[in-house]
Amino acid sequence: MADSKKSASAAHVRRGDDCVMVIFGATGDLTKRLLMPAIYNLAKAKLLPEKFALIGFSNIEESSDSYRDEITSELSQYATAKVVDPKIWDRVAKNIQYTSGDFKDPAAFIHLKEMLAEIDKQIGTPGNYLFYLATSPVFFGEIVKQLANAGLTTEPEHRWRRVIIEKPFGRDLESAKALNREIGTHLEESQIFRIDHYLGKETVQNLMVFRFGNGIFEPIWNRRYVEFVQVTAAETVGVELRGGYYDTAGALRDMVPNHMLTLLSMTAMEPPTSFDSEAVRDEKAKVMHAIRPPKKEDVARDAVRGQYGAGTVAGKPRAAYRSEPNVDPKSNTETYAAVRLFIDNWRWADVPFYLRTGKSMAKRVTEIAIQFRRPPFLMFRDTSVESMVPNLLVIHIEPDQGISLRFSAKIPGPVVSLGNVDMNFKYSEYFHATAATGYETLLWDCMLGDTTLFQRADMVDAGWRAIEPVLDVWGEQKAADFPNYVAGSWGPAAADELLHRDGHAWRKIE
Ligand code: BG6
Repeated sequence: MADSKKSASAAHVRRGDDCVMVIFGATGDLTKRLLMPAIYNLAKAKLLPEKFALIGFSNIEESSDSYRDEITSELSQYATAKVVDPKIWDRVAKNIQYTSGDFKDPAAFIHLKEMLAEIDKQIGTPGNYLFYLATSPVFFGEIVKQLANAGLTTEPEHRWRRVIIEKPFGRDLESAKALNREIGTHLEESQIFRIDHYLGKETVQNLMVFRFGNGIFEPIWNRRYVEFVQVTAAETVGVELRGGYYDTAGALRDMVPNHMLTLLSMTAMEPPTSFDSEAVRDEKAKVMHAIRPPKKEDVARDAVRGQYGAGTVAGKPRAAYRSEPNVDPKSNTETYAAVRLFIDNWRWADVPFYLRTGKSMAKRVTEIAIQFRRPPFLMFRDTSVESMVPNLLVIHIEPDQGISLRFSAKIPGPVVSLGNVDMNFKYSEYFHATAATGYETLLWDCMLGDTTLFQRADMVDAGWRAIEPVLDVWGEQKAADFPNYVAGSWGPAAADELLHRDGHAWRKIE
């Protein structure tokens, strides 16, 4: 959002800078499921650069022709558009090449450099390169080093070299810092784009517009009016084929310091002084730093972990986590995590932020629910203040995107009696936007050098710092009661207790 490219009029929107994109991990899941469909959507929206080429880089031997055929056929399976228009895709596909190599082999990077120079010559790209690290995190540091050694990270005048780094960024505060140091020896911060795909989601970006583009919400967006905030990211999927990674990560690492805290920071940040990328990131970083990490001795009270046992999800039997492929049959890894956090600043002091996330849950839903305080006194005969349902504002992020506000209304009739109604705004009903992967905006932003929606090093650190005591305690102490929730349920009973103690309850999501 650094310039006018995103201002209201479509006439101002400009294409990404001419460039070559190199995807490391080009034969992986992320590339075929999300990156290629996003590139297609950008081409369709005329946001892909006029001159654009793509090199797939992976360790599987394959020719460019067969790679191109493979991703073209996969695109028809994974595209968010109902039909792939061959006229649009062929223009992209003709400039796709493939190279195989070991990420540790300097010769493979010299070869890559030659390919890039050749493409620049052939199609007239000016030497701007976007490197996308869609590999296992163990290769992040190595690839950046190899790119640097091959002379591919130094930016010649008026040319850019940018690196998008997927999550997970480290596995705790220390390793994240070490990775930042490692890549920081080869890249300037302005060249590093740490991705959190939640920031590519339309409703998440809309949070800033909702809060700061309207006059009526900000005055009540504070501890005086807000009782508590709940952030839910529940998934019905289990770990599927990712057991190898997931069993070493767990729900807390996988979702909280990144996606969940992104949602929290967008909800709780102060208004930035402008939409300039550093102004926005400064405010997000500030609120992340204001999160009070629970004390180690309070972890048992403020955090709950769970692991699913066998059950039924969406009418189908689901095996227990410990029986999933590549998962240790005695695994101590959590597939559910809930935490109660506080933000130590004037706006949010003492307002609990409850976060929960889990796999194999009852419903696929991501949302932020803001519960406001009850009216202060009893005014309606026969209606106790306690029985009145407080106002609730819900930002629905997935799968249905929208915003709803619950308030009390008089049920028609001579007797004054109160009912609750919901005012619902649904994206799909108001805007007829085409379905997207969420990666479109992020790729386009990177091609324009806009870092607003990417994580700065200090934000990554702050995310890890906020949950570090929980990671430590859970790492040190085995969970005695795993598995403690049935697949297809809303998680362990202890998570309900976490809120009951404060006189609150998780929102029932139908
Ligand atoms: C990823 C996690 O970052 O986010 C996955 O590694 C998780 O475990 C996914 O399933 C959730 O993303 P989304 O967009 O489907 O909510």
